[in-house]
Amino acid sequence: SNTKKFHFNVEWKTITRLCNSKPVLTVNGKYPGPTITVNEGDNVQVTVTNKVAINTTIHWHGVRQVRSGWADGPAYITQCPIGGGKSYTYNFSVVDQRGTLWWHAHFSWQRASVYGAFIILPRMPFPFSLPILNPYIPLIFGEWWNEDVELVANEMMLYGGGPKTSDAYTINGLPGPLYPCSTKDTFIQTVVPGKTYLVRIINAALNDELFFAVENHSLIVVEIDGVYTKPFATTAVMIAPGQTTNVLLTADQVHHSSAMFVMAARPYLTSVFHFDNSTTIGFLKYQTNITPKIGKLEKIQPPMPPYTLPQNLPNLEDTLFATQFLNSLRSLGSKDYPCKVPKKIDKRVVTTIGLNLQDCPVNQTCKGFENKRFFASMNNQSFIRPSTSILESIYHNLSNGFSSDFPENPPFIFNYTGVNPVTENMNTNFGTKLLQLPYGTKLEVVLQDTNFLNPENHPIHVHGHNFFIVGRGFGNFDVAKDPLSYNLVDPPERNTVAVPVGGWAAIRLIADNPGVWFVHCHLEEHTSWGLAMGFVVKSGSEPSQCLLPPPSDLPAC
Ligand code: C2O
Repeated sequence: SNTKKFHFNVEWKTITRLCNSKPVLTVNGKYPGPTITVNEGDNVQVTVTNKVAINTTIHWHGVRQVRSGWADGPAYITQCPIGGGKSYTYNFSVVDQRGTLWWHAHFSWQRASVYGAFIILPRMPFPFSLPILNPYIPLIFGEWWNEDVELVANEMMLYGGGPKTSDAYTINGLPGPLYPCSTKDTFIQTVVPGKTYLVRIINAALNDELFFAVENHSLIVVEIDGVYTKPFATTAVMIAPGQTTNVLLTADQVHHSSAMFVMAARPYLTSVFHFDNSTTIGFLKYQTNITPKIGKLEKIQPPMPPYTLPQNLPNLEDTLFATQFLNSLRSLGSKDYPCKVPKKIDKRVVTTIGLNLQDCPVNQTCKGFENKRFFASMNNQSFIRPSTSILESIYHNLSNGFSSDFPENPPFIFNYTGVNPVTENMNTNFGTKLLQLPYGTKLEVVLQDTNFLNPENHPIHVHGHNFFIVGRGFGNFDVAKDPLSYNLVDPPERNTVAVPVGGWAAIRLIADNPGVWFVHCHLEEHTSWGLAMGFVVKSGSEPSQCLLPPPSDLPAC
């Protein structure tokens, strides 16, 4: 296999958006960060040099890290952070994976600006018959804060209230002309009429699920989270933070070929908590007789206002669309790409996911609901990150930093579909509780949302493994009934699942990657409040089933 080397300097750079300038944490001065492109099977070595005075780590979101957990990146789970002035080389191979993934900082809220695309070009030809002009249009959604994001996060933790919302959503770092002072910061993609493009959509936003649509164009979904799907045509896409979606877009509106078409992304929120309902737009520009620079920002002016949002962009509260879209996703399940969902399981874990309220400590001000403070939990355990690396503890057969008693069932049952069951769901426990799994365990995890003061699906992300979403529904999970209607033929395979508000999702995976793997809500506010857990996969009996030894430059705490 080939080795591909990259160098990431984590450094401050002054960036201006919405006529507001501030120092932004970046990789190599870029916002968003550089795209990494590798080939399936490559060994990848990214040397990260921390040029700032605060700690950092980088996570390769969706890269399985088979036996190379040391390169996974979540701070205090698989490594101690990289201190100021220090370097660490993330060394891993991309084995049996292809498509669109991404990378981001995995320390505090740094991923607000430290993120980029991670693209694995396939070994075998692309399995869809449409001719593709250029397999390379990344559309990365993000959020921009005028304020320092770390201050927003710290204030949230200090007072236990929800964070201030971002000032803009962005497409490839650009807010677009619906935001103040932003017409010059608009993403415009040129396309050649009649051609088909592979568009790689990544939701890197901190806290919001998004709908995305392009005026007058339908999109054909062919891949999610770096796994091919059965192609299906859709008028719009629903994408949660942490997820990626590849779509084919054909520039087929040739009858008005000088036109510019609006592309738009705005949040999906299920209820009255419309804390942020603004919209980022960019444009698709049909270009004739000029050689297009694909994937590059063209110095083309956006059209004059007013701007009309695409009719096919779902409304803020369109749960029907979101549900139908997610239910349409299926593994490709072809001869070359079989669906490997476990038909039988060794263990089922049922866990609540959701928010909690704690009483405000005396003499303190709290800004959560009813003057209390927010936390979040899985089975009423709020995850606390230790101050040492759990993976190092495990590798050296130590147990410092964690305990192995993550509860495998909810501590008590209540009606999760009820409206704000405040009394049942007040308190949470704090700790670093992990689940221990023998190598090769076929695991099912049922994620039950508690429907508590939360308008968004919880996008639950699992490190080190892909999983299959075998079931998803509203209401309370019924262990006697719901497993009977699981899809065990072609369920979607991904690394981040949007668990519906007031509902549940059942995922299955084969725990065949030795190490410790973080599981958490990819809404950054919820992770900070403790909506996370971890599981340990023990090494197997074969040498090929064991975690590799730690690299010599692994940072110390
Ligand atoms: Cu994309 Cu643990 O993260």
